[in-house]
Amino acid sequence: MLAVKPAYVWCCVFLCWFLCWTVGACDIVGARSQGDINIGGIFPIHRQVENLEIRSKPDPLTCKVFDVHRFIWLQAMIHTIEMINNSTLLPGIKLGYEIYDTCTDVSKAVTAAMKLLSKVNISDNCLEVRCNYTDYQPIVKVVVGEIYSELSIPIARIFNVALMPQISPASSAAILSDKLRFPSLIRTVPSDIHQTKALARFVSNSRWNWIGVIATDDDYGKSAMADFISNAHDLDICIGFQELISIFSTGESNDEAIQALVSKIETIPTANVIVLFAKPAVVIKLFGEIIKGNITRVWVASDAWSISKAVSTMQNIEKVGNIFGFSFKNGNIPGFNEHLKNPRPGPGAFNKFIEKYKQLRFTCSDEYLNYTKMCNSGLKDCPLPDSLKLVSRLACNKTNESIADFDDDYLVQNIERAGTYATYLAVQSIAHALRNLLKCQGGVCQKSPNFAPWELLGALKTVNFTEGGRLFYFDKNGDSINGYDLLKWVMDDGTIQFKIIGEYNILDKQIHIYDETIRNTTEAIFSNCSQSCQPGQRKNSNSSHTCCYECVPCAEGYYSLGWDMNNCLKCSGEQWSDSGSSTCNDRTTEFFGWNNGFAIVLVVFASLGVILTIVIAIMFRQKLNTPVLKSIGGPFCYVILLSLLLSFVSTGFFIGEPTSYGCYIRQPLFGISFTICVSWILIKSFKIILAFKLDPVNRKTMMSLFKPMAILATCNLIQVMICALWLTLNGPHPVKSYDIPKIILLKCEEGSNVAFGVMLGYIAVLAMFCFLLAFMGRKLPDIYNEARFITFSMLIYLIVWISFVPAYVNTDDQYLPAVEVVAILASNYGILCCHFFPKCYMICFKKDSCTREVFIQNLREHYKSRDPVTCSEGSVFGGSLWAAPGAPSSVNTSKCEQKPTFTQPCVRNRHKSW
Ligand SMILES: *[C@@H]1O[C@H](CO)[C@@H](O)[C@H](O)[C@H]1NC(C)=O
Ligand SMILES: *[C@@H]1O[C@H](CO)[C@@H](O)[C@H](O)[C@H]1NC(C)=O
Ligand SMILES: *[C@@H]1O[C@H](CO)[C@@H](O)[C@H](O)[C@H]1NC(C)=O
Ligand SMILES: *[C@@H]1O[C@H](CO)[C@@H](O)[C@H](O)[C@H]1NC(C)=O
Ligand SMILES: *[C@@H]1O[C@H](CO)[C@@H](O)[C@H](O)[C@H]1NC(C)=O
Ligand SMILES: *[C@@H]1O[C@H](CO)[C@@H](O)[C@H](O)[C@H]1NC(C)=O
Ligand SMILES: *[C@@H]1O[C@H](CO)[C@@H](O)[C@H](O)[C@H]1NC(C)=O
Repeated sequence: MLAVKPAYVWCCVFLCWFLCWTVGACDIVGARSQGDINIGGIFPIHRQVENLEIRSKPDPLTCKVFDVHRFIWLQAMIHTIEMINNSTLLPGIKLGYEIYDTCTDVSKAVTAAMKLLSKVNISDNCLEVRCNYTDYQPIVKVVVGEIYSELSIPIARIFNVALMPQISPASSAAILSDKLRFPSLIRTVPSDIHQTKALARFVSNSRWNWIGVIATDDDYGKSAMADFISNAHDLDICIGFQELISIFSTGESNDEAIQALVSKIETIPTANVIVLFAKPAVVIKLFGEIIKGNITRVWVASDAWSISKAVSTMQNIEKVGNIFGFSFKNGNIPGFNEHLKNPRPGPGAFNKFIEKYKQLRFTCSDEYLNYTKMCNSGLKDCPLPDSLKLVSRLACNKTNESIADFDDDYLVQNIERAGTYATYLAVQSIAHALRNLLKCQGGVCQKSPNFAPWELLGALKTVNFTEGGRLFYFDKNGDSINGYDLLKWVMDDGTIQFKIIGEYNILDKQIHIYDETIRNTTEAIFSNCSQSCQPGQRKNSNSSHTCCYECVPCAEGYYSLGWDMNNCLKCSGEQWSDSGSSTCNDRTTEFFGWNNGFAIVLVVFASLGVILTIVIAIMFRQKLNTPVLKSIGGPFCYVILLSLLLSFVSTGFFIGEPTSYGCYIRQPLFGISFTICVSWILIKSFKIILAFKLDPVNRKTMMSLFKPMAILATCNLIQVMICALWLTLNGPHPVKSYDIPKIILLKCEEGSNVAFGVMLGYIAVLAMFCFLLAFMGRKLPDIYNEARFITFSMLIYLIVWISFVPAYVNTDDQYLPAVEVVAILASNYGILCCHFFPKCYMICFKKDSCTREVFIQNLREHYKSRDPVTCSEGSVFGGSLWAAPGAPSSVNTSKCEQKPTFTQPCVRNRHKSW
């Protein structure tokens, strides 16, 4: 730090000394009008400097190719200054201007910048070197220009020296928003950052996702391309190809590069839309080749060429295809068209550019004479060479010497409204800032116009004014927040017009289309790697590009609503969809209802069963004391019949819409009532074995153990416990099943399938016992064929339920309950047929066989063939099923024939009613 101070002091000592660059004896200024406050202007009025590549000494640069469009921009600046001078905006203050041509060359631009920064009142045009520029007064207070960013950047660095405000009407490079490097530069156009966003948004809104990008390989092109591609990726747009055009190579290599580019474009026809970031000169070269190659594409223009008259007046330009583009906001300048019809320097001003223009337009050159001669000589096709485009048709009409003073429409037709409007805004904001700075009110300005440029910079940054109905101001980076106009090039009367079809708003980042029918046009253009997937389909991508895919229909139960969906969505549980659906339909509800034909059949059978059971009960009531009935339990038959009845009734709960009550009750109802029946049969089986199968000693002990009531109670208690556990822990409940497509199946979920299996299995085990016992006793002399019937009915039962298992497991539709109902009905009918019908038959028709004699005869025949047994054994069989085993044993065994206990009911029966 200490080392700095002396240097600083030393520097200030020389404060009044200055070094001076003499800018030259030749006056390089292009247009000047002296005023109280002067505004500098730097414009590229010519396109090139001559012989730059062979230049070996720093002699003056010669400019070539007059750019009439930039000349119009410059005229917009002059016109606006004159307008403000005519108005009351700055009372008592006349604005002047001093304008330089850069010829699109950095050296010339820097020279102009130094000239503008040179000190006022120095006859020799000197740029003073100082430490402290706080009160430095250069010849202008503010500069309007440059147009190209690559020229704005170096001159902005020079203007930084004195913080001279610089307003660019067109330099949109993103880097210029950086206020560390460019603190004194502001602009009336937005940063390119927004333009690439706008371009990407436009491509996306038009549903194009497979495009090409071409840019020039300068700073502008490279950064615009990179920004655009990154924005495009964010909007799911894929880049089919991206190419840089070299603009620094000259001559043939440049032409070859462009031809290579054109063939590249040709090889990727699916990328139908091409975004092009390039200056008009490059676009003209490229389009020249494109037109030659007969290639048609959709072009999207950046602001650099979107309103370029030079491009739009090319021969056959309509053959390149549709052109859309973004330009800076277009606007009209009041009175400007009138001004352009015959531009003249104002009083006290000079303007070399106007002279040059009039000379080019109205001088009758040999070349033009040759051209008209050639055309008049009868050539059909006589295209106007570019060099002669500017020449007026009247140029060689010598009839009127002062033709240059006539009104002429040429300039008006070539206005690029976005550029001239931005220039107009630049001058307007200077005037408004001056008005604020100089405190102009009520016809006087209080402050003197001798201020330093940096004071105006502060005023400019905060200026705001209404222009064309919208508020104009600079954002914190000194950029305009005016959006972009979206243009379409339309052929009208043989010339291209830039039709404004919409705008991009920077604040909400959206494109607003003015004319909705334009959407039809853009959406009809196809620039996609793959066809869009319709609703009902989804993308299936195998390629590295997300935009290249095939469409596959959504699976069953899935749907996709929009176009180009990545995934199908699952239908809600209540709905279903076919494969390839865009919507879901409501499922139909199904259950095993009463109106089902099969259900009706089952109900008929169940009702028949119920009726038969009741009829049997009635029949038994009359014949309760017959030996036949006594042998099967007497009054207890009612309990069996009742459980059989309940078992039939339980089938009713399997039909109809499942209710929680019905689900809960139906399985236990069947299970318990059927267990009662089976345990009754088990007791009967036991008795047969007890009666005939055991040797006397064992029989005695077994007889003492044989307690039918206890067996019945135990068997059923186990089943009741199984059911109680099932119901309390995980009982059946109604559910909606969505497993079958298109329908909601209402069914009873059995809760614990294990418990269900145990319940049925328990019955099956009992039935198995019955079957085995009865099978053992099938050869016994049983007058009622009891053993055979038991065997048969249990066989039916077992067969039915064994076949039930696979049927039940394999049924998953509404007929699931029907399977069980069939099984229940079959088992019930098995019991009815094998156990009750024979008894009824006997009661009704075989009264005679139920005699004591027949019984004895039967028994004898049996015992003859085996060990003789005492009659008392037969009593077990013949006696009441429920009598205590001891009771009949009082009968004398030797008097078996007289009084076999089992015959007693028969005898009594016979005596009684039969
Ligand atoms: C300014 O006023 C002068 C004189 O009235 C007029 O000739 C000139 O056209 C006006 N300029 C503009 C831009 O209005
Ligand atoms: C720079 O110049 C201004 C005006 O002449 C003066 O007020 C200021 O103090 C100077 N700054 C320095 C650091 O000398
Ligand atoms: C250009 O294309 C048009 C129509 O597609 C065709 O008629 C014409 O012959 C083509 N010209 C060349 C040079 O390929
Ligand atoms: C005009 O044409 C003549 C011959 O037709 C030629 O000699 C002359 O150089 C041409 N002039 C220009 C400027 O092209
Ligand atoms: C030029 O003048 C001639 C007569 O001198 C006239 O016939 C011709 O139409 C004029 N050309 C134009 C473009 O007006
Ligand atoms: C416009 O500028 C004035 C001062 O010139 C200021 O008071 C006002 O707040 C500004 N308005 C906006 C919207 O920036
Ligand atoms: C354009 O779109 C509109 C609806 O936005 C429609 O009514 C019209 O028919 C379409 N025109 C064409 C040519 O498709």
